[in-house]
Amino acid sequence: MPVKSVKNCCAHNIPVALVTGANGGIGKRISRELISNGYRVILSYRRSERALAFYHSLRQEYGTERVDCLEMDLSSVSSIKAAVQLLIEKETRIDVLVNNAGMLGHKPEVSPEGYEMHNMVNCFGPMLFTWLVKPLLHRGSRVVTTVSLVLFYASIPDHFPYPSRKFNRFRQYECSKLALTLLCLCLANKWEEEGITLNMVDPGIVDTPIIKLHKWVDPLADKLFRPFIRSPEKGAATSVFLSCDSSLNGITGTLYKDKKVRYLPERITNHPFADKIWHLLLEL
Ligand SMILES: NC(=O)c1ccc[n+]([C@@H]2O[C@H](COP(=O)([O-])OP(=O)(O)OC[C@H]3O[C@@H](n4cnc5c(N)ncnc54)[C@H](OP(=O)(O)O)[C@@H]3O)[C@@H](O)[C@H]2O)c1
Repeated sequence: MPVKSVKNCCAHNIPVALVTGANGGIGKRISRELISNGYRVILSYRRSERALAFYHSLRQEYGTERVDCLEMDLSSVSSIKAAVQLLIEKETRIDVLVNNAGMLGHKPEVSPEGYEMHNMVNCFGPMLFTWLVKPLLHRGSRVVTTVSLVLFYASIPDHFPYPSRKFNRFRQYECSKLALTLLCLCLANKWEEEGITLNMVDPGIVDTPIIKLHKWVDPLADKLFRPFIRSPEKGAATSVFLSCDSSLNGITGTLYKDKKVRYLPERITNHPFADKIWHLLLEL
């Protein structure tokens, strides 16, 4: 999907946050919290009636000067590049970038580049955006990326980022979040000297559309399971903490859950595929 608009930008001298997947369950909450914490928030989403309705409702609630939008489809390299170009033309800085968008598919799909769709939307898409948007980041800017602790159980196949012969949605999701983590660690390392921090967050199991099983049990699970899992508000809390809390100044390359550090084992911090994935990103 081509990018359409960034509106009402630049004129305001208040910190700027950009949230991807801003119209999703957790993204909505993060966006609201960041506005409440004093940011002008650029909501990034794929165009849909739901997304536009959210954008307009926030502008009504908080004022047009506090809410802008950026349409971007993270499955498409051309959409990401167009979005970055527009952003760089209109904005002078981004203080907080929250890479929150993500997917858990239920059927095999490939991106226009032939990559398995989770690998594109959950890993390359957000990291390509982060890499290209660098001219707007500055010393003190924070990048907060949503991963998932399932990455601890993941492996990256030799044929990454291409699809496996047999599709397993959970294996694929785990793999994409591990690859995303490897890229975050790599960028955190590269940008440390420049004072741009990159941290990762696991939101817990949160009551949002992503956890749908796409099976007949869904209505039953909605009744029995959903009431007992985290609210989007709780799911958003650690992302907001990583975005704004002054105690985290200078902290980078770290994974958090429930506002606490989760240490990554050496098999992840020293992963043999990290370099390969980094070079694949640069080729996009
Ligand atoms: N919910 C959980 O239990 C849980 C647990 C661990 C990690 N997470 C992570 O938390 C993040 C937020 O998920 P959520 O729980 O809030 O789920 P959600 O409500 O389904 O939100 C996902 C968001 O990502 C967006 N998105 C999906 N594909 C996209 C694409 N190709 N381009 C741009 N945006 C795209 C969706 O936009 P559309 O509305 O256009 O589809 C939506 O805004 C994700 O990264 C997810 O992996 C969630």
